[in-house]
Amino acid sequence: MTSATAPLGLGLAGCGGFGAFLLDAVAGLPGLRPVAVADPDPRRAGALAKRYAVPALAGLDELLAREEVDVVAVATPPAAHAAMATAALRAGRHVLCEKPLAATAAEAAGVALEAGRAGRTLVVDHVLRYNPLLRAVERLTAEGLLARPRRFLFENDASDEDLGPDHWFWDRAHSGGIFVEHGVHFFDAARALLGSDPVSVRATAVRRPGTEIVDTVSADVVHPDGALASHLHSFTHAHRCERQLMRLDHGFAETRIEGWIPVRAEISAWTDEEGARAWGELPGRAGTLLHVEGFRPHGGERVRVTVERDAGSTAPARGRGQWRTVPHRVRAVLDLGGEARKPYVYRESVRSAAADLLRVVRDGGTPVADALAGLTAVAVAETATRAADTGLAQHVPGPDAYLRGPA
Ligand SMILES: NC(=O)c1ccc[n+]([C@@H]2O[C@H](COP(=O)([O-])OP(=O)(O)OC[C@H]3O[C@@H](n4cnc5c(N)ncnc54)[C@H](O)[C@@H]3O)[C@@H](O)[C@H]2O)c1
Repeated sequence: MTSATAPLGLGLAGCGGFGAFLLDAVAGLPGLRPVAVADPDPRRAGALAKRYAVPALAGLDELLAREEVDVVAVATPPAAHAAMATAALRAGRHVLCEKPLAATAAEAAGVALEAGRAGRTLVVDHVLRYNPLLRAVERLTAEGLLARPRRFLFENDASDEDLGPDHWFWDRAHSGGIFVEHGVHFFDAARALLGSDPVSVRATAVRRPGTEIVDTVSADVVHPDGALASHLHSFTHAHRCERQLMRLDHGFAETRIEGWIPVRAEISAWTDEEGARAWGELPGRAGTLLHVEGFRPHGGERVRVTVERDAGSTAPARGRGQWRTVPHRVRAVLDLGGEARKPYVYRESVRSAAADLLRVVRDGGTPVADALAGLTAVAVAETATRAADTGLAQHVPGPDAYLRGPA
């Protein structure tokens, strides 16, 4: 294995569309260098191997047989993630695992336990957790400028243009279904933004007319203290008609974030004198507000704030049972460059997930999107799938229920 000071060797398992994107995103990261790629499809492995002048291998076993592989990136379809991540951890490797961490919560728990036993770092590529806009909202919440949201809504008009009827995406045995394959990003984001693990879920799944394909799912997830997260994913659109909105209700403020890879956030807030001053100072600290380790700003990011003083009455106003004097109205726009910057923001978010892994390997600590985040997201997704299947509200078991194993 690589010496303590040399860059860690990265081996990629799964050279499909996203494996290639991932390798391109992380290849230039200081401290990491591609050393091998593997895929049972020699054409796919060969193309990437050529680009990075590394060996093309047939599978994970060959990858793990190579001493220079310190980190395994798993980018196969979901059903294979758990077995591959587990094998890599057992072989003493760190793992950057594509989402979902596993196709089932029991498997995800197995991976989490293995990471602990092996003492190796595992990061799940939940890209939203490495997005500067979500990070900024988390920061503003921690500082108290925004109250902790009690409502999370995600509306996802997603594209199925590249998803032919035979694609593994539609096959639950390979993907886990839409909640597991895609929903995990947003279950995890909601957990981070609401600051709690979910308690129960109701869900609906809708079939494409005349087929068995489930292309639209929705879930209402209850978090502690009555916080409610609603998720809708509809894979029925042309690329050009993709639309996403994440909406957070902070009580006296609202955040609207556009794009499945978020590129623009708009916050409107009612505030007092002290708040108006703090909001007004935001553009001056845009760099630290939007900072995510490993994410390179392109220079076109903007934070704009307008404060409309005395836009409302100075009489106390009651919201969420709390009386506050909030006469000033704030509008803040956090802009990563709009839709045109989506590919850039996507790539840098993946780069940041890999940077997070390197940070933990180097300094210790816990990754932002760790195995527990991966497990919790899969547990909600699996429970939402069961809720849709049965038509009944379901309790979401906490991660401990899976980590303890069967009684
Ligand atoms: N984080 C994100 O934003 C994001 C976005 C898209 C896809 N993904 C995830 O990336 C993963 C891959 O998706 P994709 O769109 O690239 O799929 P894909 O079908 O394009 O590629 C999957 C590749 O894995 C290979 N493969 C299958 N079994 C393998 C094995 N045992 N060893 C090595 N290779 C194997 C296949 O031959 C194929 O080349 C999925 O888990 C998906 O959810 C993540």
